[in-house]
Amino acid sequence: MRRPIIAGNWKMFKTVPETRAFFDALIPEIQNVEHCDIAVAPPFTAIAAAVEEADGTRVAISAQDVHWKAEGAFTGEVSVKMLVDSGCEYTIIGHSERRQFFSETDETVDLKTRAAIAGGLNAIVCVGETLTERDAGQAAEVVRRQVTRGIGQLTSSDLSRIIVAYEPVWAIGTGRTATPEVAAEMHAEIRRILADIYGAATADGMRILYGGSVKPENISALMSKEDIDGALVGGASLDPASFASIIKYERGAGGPIGG
Ligand code: PGA
Repeated sequence: MRRPIIAGNWKMFKTVPETRAFFDALIPEIQNVEHCDIAVAPPFTAIAAAVEEADGTRVAISAQDVHWKAEGAFTGEVSVKMLVDSGCEYTIIGHSERRQFFSETDETVDLKTRAAIAGGLNAIVCVGETLTERDAGQAAEVVRRQVTRGIGQLTSSDLSRIIVAYEPVWAIGTGRTATPEVAAEMHAEIRRILADIYGAATADGMRILYGGSVKPENISALMSKEDIDGALVGGASLDPASFASIIKYERGAGGPIGG
């Protein structure tokens, strides 16, 4: 049984005081939640405050990116060791905004993922096609390439620390969510790709999140799909009330987690 996880990606939002205010509002709302793991990815500057605020709660803190080298002359970058030292348990890797605007490639995703795992972080590795690729009928092919090159060379024990996030680029920040059916179809495809590389049993145990305009209104339908094991939430994770209501999505009898 795969344990669901709801992760918030704040992108370039929130100062330290805003981070503290967010946790002050969120924590009382989710105190009794036991059905899923929870993670929040603030910007680097707010990680220390977030770790402090989340201490003793069920919320784990994630970075939004990481460099693969241990240290060195890499102005502007942050290493795995620095993140672990700050109290991070997760990092996002290969977000489509990094791929689109900051030259992230499948090769750097591979390097970052291996460094993250070796250094003790859990990695949320993002894949997903653009609208042009989807319209050209290339969605599955693009995602296969991203999965194979980005996380295709790991060991089975590494994989227990990997979470895949399927985020169709056309659904991110656009208000245009993939329908649960379209998302579920790609999640099943990703699981087949993982099974081709690592075998069915390993692929079955891996968590695959959906991301792209997830909101309180659509989370339950998404989570009712067998291969959707959670969500990576951008815009709707900035508001504590809306993030709390996503975390507390309705769990139907036919859903992936039962009661
Ligand atoms: P969104 O972002 O929920 O604002 O669409 C998701 C993401 O980019 O992780």
